[in-house]
Amino acid sequence: MQKSKFLNLVLALAVLVLTILLTTKENGSNKHKTTPAVKIENAQLAVLDSAWFPFNKKSLGVRKELYPQPALVIGTYDKEGKPNMMTAAWVGVCNSDPFSISVSMRPATYSYGNVMESKSFTVNIPSSKLAKYVDYVGRFSGKDVDKFKETGLTPVKGEFVNAPFVKEFPIVIECELTEYHDLGSHRQFIGKVIDVKADEAILDAEGHVNEKLLNPLIYAGGNYYETGRLIAKTGEALKDIDGEPFVANYSERYENETLEVIHNRKSVRHFTNRPVSKEQIETLLKAGMAAPTAVNRQPWVFYVVTKRETLDALSEQLPYAKMLSQTQVAIVVCGDMEKAGNLKDEGYWVHDCAAATENILLAAESIGLGAVWTASYPYDDRTKAVKKELNLPEKHIPLNVIPVGYPTGEDVPKNKWKAENVIWQ
Ligand SMILES: Cc1cc2nc3c(=O)[nH]c(=O)nc-3n(C[C@H](O)[C@H](O)[C@H](O)COP(=O)(O)O)c2cc1C
Repeated sequence: MQKSKFLNLVLALAVLVLTILLTTKENGSNKHKTTPAVKIENAQLAVLDSAWFPFNKKSLGVRKELYPQPALVIGTYDKEGKPNMMTAAWVGVCNSDPFSISVSMRPATYSYGNVMESKSFTVNIPSSKLAKYVDYVGRFSGKDVDKFKETGLTPVKGEFVNAPFVKEFPIVIECELTEYHDLGSHRQFIGKVIDVKADEAILDAEGHVNEKLLNPLIYAGGNYYETGRLIAKTGEALKDIDGEPFVANYSERYENETLEVIHNRKSVRHFTNRPVSKEQIETLLKAGMAAPTAVNRQPWVFYVVTKRETLDALSEQLPYAKMLSQTQVAIVVCGDMEKAGNLKDEGYWVHDCAAATENILLAAESIGLGAVWTASYPYDDRTKAVKKELNLPEKHIPLNVIPVGYPTGEDVPKNKWKAENVIWQ
């Protein structure tokens, strides 16, 4: 090898070693670990494949389009100490240390003067079922009406700040005014968070707010919505969920609510400890009994099991019903051989009870509950176990056991559409 070539080679090697050393050092000194490379080609392709987003943007000019927004209720006292509340959508977290929330208010609102006077406000977070109050307090002014009196909601004096919170709202945040900015139409009030209170009913076992239980209200396009289903956890949005690419969920949107429920129904096997009411169970049973039934025999009977010992005993004996130990109620759909009459030998009771079961599962999905079909009949051992635990008469044959409860959000629907399963003739 020529001397100059050799020198060039040594030089190139030295540069390479130096580059590696520098890169390693840079990475090492970086406080935040770099995220490992994630394969996203599939996700991108799935979006491109989808017909939902044609990607040709049209300019709308300056319009107040920001989705979604919160719809929260701000609690204040006026200078006479009268409590007031107003709805605000232009609210957000604006600092983490100290944890602060900004609220933008028009000077025309009564609350604006109240905040200036008391230097305090509370932020009250509604669950979706409180939407009517949120709407009301956003339409009328405390200058004209006593909104607490009109709505029947209860003002409670803040523990740490000079502002009332709303007792019936599941999360209340006490804020102390630290600064404000005049932005034009609105004054942006910055409130340092002094305390956050949450109803025990929406807390999980670790004491964290369970957003499924909270069921927060969402404001978008002038409409109120409740939260939908969980689609991914932070940092895991690129991962497959239950074998399906994350973005595949885009294709599961339906205009029609019935189709939405059908496609969003899933076998729910993870439940929170939130109790299900008798009225909710009756809603499911009414849906069950609305199912088609051969010559209107209605060859069914529904057992509603709430006894802890029975649920636990069934959970132990039924191999695919372990989740009964997490639920507080289960529906057992049984065929009644007396009602089935001479059709029982044709197996019609199974068809009818299966249709009733599917109606129950869909009804559960439609009211925010989760349920799963765990088979009993035609397995002799399972049928025997259910009959024994429920002390069923001979004529009642349990087709299945359906645990019912509030889903944790871990279970997601599967896309089972397969064009090859259809034979067009
Ligand atoms: C969904 C919704 C969101 C609202 N967001 C805001 C807001 O962010 N800022 C604001 O100044 N007014 C907002 N308003 C209007 C006030 O709530 C309304 O003017 C109210 O009557 C003021 O009450 P007050 O005069 O008792 O303070 C909103 C109203 C609704 C219905």
